[in-house]
Amino acid sequence: MTQMRIVSLVFLMDSFQSLPSLLLLLLTTTSLLVQPSFSTPHQSLNTKLGFRVGATRVDYGKNLTKLQLVQRSLHRGRARLEMFTKMATTASGNNIQAPIFPGSGEFLMNMSIGTPSVPMSAILDTGSDLIWTQCMPCTKCFDQPTPVFDTTKSSTCSNVSCTSDFCQDMNVFKCMDGCKYLYSYGDESSTEGFMAQDTFTFEDSGSGPVSIPNIGFGCGVNNQGTGFGQGSGLVGLGRGPLSLVSQLGLGKFSYCLTSISENKTSNVLFGALADLNYSTSGASHRTPLVQNPFQPSFYYVSLEGITIGETLLPMPKSTMKLKEDGSGGMIIDSGTTLTYLQEEAFRALKMEFKSQMKLRVSESSDTIGLDLCFDLPTEDLSEITVPKLKLHFEGVDLELPPENYMISDPSMGVVCLAMAASSRMSILGNIQQQNLLVLHDLEKETVSFIPTQCDQL
Ligand SMILES: *[C@@H]1O[C@H](CO)[C@@H](O)[C@H](O)[C@H]1NC(C)=O
Ligand SMILES: *[C@@H]1O[C@H](CO)[C@@H](O)[C@H](O)[C@H]1NC(C)=O
Ligand SMILES: *[C@@H]1O[C@H](CO)[C@@H](O)[C@H](O)[C@H]1NC(C)=O
Ligand SMILES: *[C@@H]1O[C@H](CO)[C@@H](O)[C@H](O)[C@H]1NC(C)=O
Ligand SMILES: *[C@@H]1O[C@H](CO)[C@@H](O)[C@H](O)[C@H]1NC(C)=O
Repeated sequence: MTQMRIVSLVFLMDSFQSLPSLLLLLLTTTSLLVQPSFSTPHQSLNTKLGFRVGATRVDYGKNLTKLQLVQRSLHRGRARLEMFTKMATTASGNNIQAPIFPGSGEFLMNMSIGTPSVPMSAILDTGSDLIWTQCMPCTKCFDQPTPVFDTTKSSTCSNVSCTSDFCQDMNVFKCMDGCKYLYSYGDESSTEGFMAQDTFTFEDSGSGPVSIPNIGFGCGVNNQGTGFGQGSGLVGLGRGPLSLVSQLGLGKFSYCLTSISENKTSNVLFGALADLNYSTSGASHRTPLVQNPFQPSFYYVSLEGITIGETLLPMPKSTMKLKEDGSGGMIIDSGTTLTYLQEEAFRALKMEFKSQMKLRVSESSDTIGLDLCFDLPTEDLSEITVPKLKLHFEGVDLELPPENYMISDPSMGVVCLAMAASSRMSILGNIQQQNLLVLHDLEKETVSFIPTQCDQL
């Protein structure tokens, strides 16, 4: 059977997402080779099991129409893309401090800092490392929903000295009356301030609050830009030593993203809890992580082929392979919404969808901002057929549910492919990761994709 039925269109996703990933693509060319010399102060977390926190999309709970969601995300993406293109052509490297990507702020999680603890909501970003929040004395802070953190009011907070491990890492720090940092993001957003350490408290929905002392984070006193969503800062979950996962030293984490159309909470799981359903599903879902020395924070995987319906796309296995110069390859990212494929691969995929979909190619793709849309039939919207889509990673074939790659909008009369072309790096976006437990095992250096009903975790 080459075709799969979508019984109810209403269940299909209804938000189009933008092009934030293009930032990443360009960042690869400008990033520095960083060799962290930093030894992580591993915390001994008393909960052996680890913990879980809820995460919600930036537009969570807002009563937006599909079209509004589309426009918001496209706008976000376009602004970033323009800024970054400009920067890439003029960059001498001076204004880029670290290969960091703010994500598009697609997911937020709640936590609190200090003693007594101050709640905050932070953008989750698997594409960068630093944890930071806005701090007093603010010289420039954007509006945030909770009070700005004041290190002097927390009895457990201390400033990080220049000689500490935290301050020795990377090239973002400067010794100047304490440990100072400056992080610039691709869209001309930046955060500047001093490094501190304090207790972070996460609200585990099952076991209650989990407090972890001495987490190193940036206290941003000069924070510019609009790219930080509705949070008060950012939590990096990248592979580098400063990220939350590295600082916790728990070896693994996973996330399980609910469908974008559902308005339900997603989950991020740290430690042993992360492989929740792993035993039932085993190694068959596991693919090796690849390391790119030019982009040490990113989670690269090897995508070797794609099957549409029964047709394996005609392209060499190496098409999306990471090249020796650090270009190409595919990363998994929770902060990028669409999936971006290397151009040649995307062209082949698009052609195959055109030939297998039994619908007319829409002329409104351009105005919608997606590459390939089809006109929905004017009557009987109850079911349309779409070809199956299988991603062949090294060691695992992942068949995606149709709502992970087809977005329909009956009000606009179209159904669109949630994928686009990229001229450099490929990115597995968050729409494609819906209802999968995406397990990052940092010790075994693998990623597993385990089909999971994420709203029931
Ligand atoms: C985070 O906190 C806000 C404000 O208290 C709340 O509305 C939201 O639902 C919380 N999000 C999660 C994922 O728990
Ligand atoms: C989404 O869920 C939140 C929390 O349960 C609720 O407050 C909000 O009204 C919901 N929004 C929509 C548009 O359904
Ligand atoms: C959401 O917006 C629509 C159209 O603007 C309106 O009719 C509806 O009552 C709103 N729903 C909620 C829960 O606010
Ligand atoms: C840490 O350093 C900053 C900036 O140098 C200063 O404003 C703050 O009061 C210091 N905090 C503590 C707890 O010493
Ligand atoms: C975990 O795996 C079991 C067995 O495969 C399955 O029945 C269950 O629904 C899974 N849990 C979740 C939350 O998906």
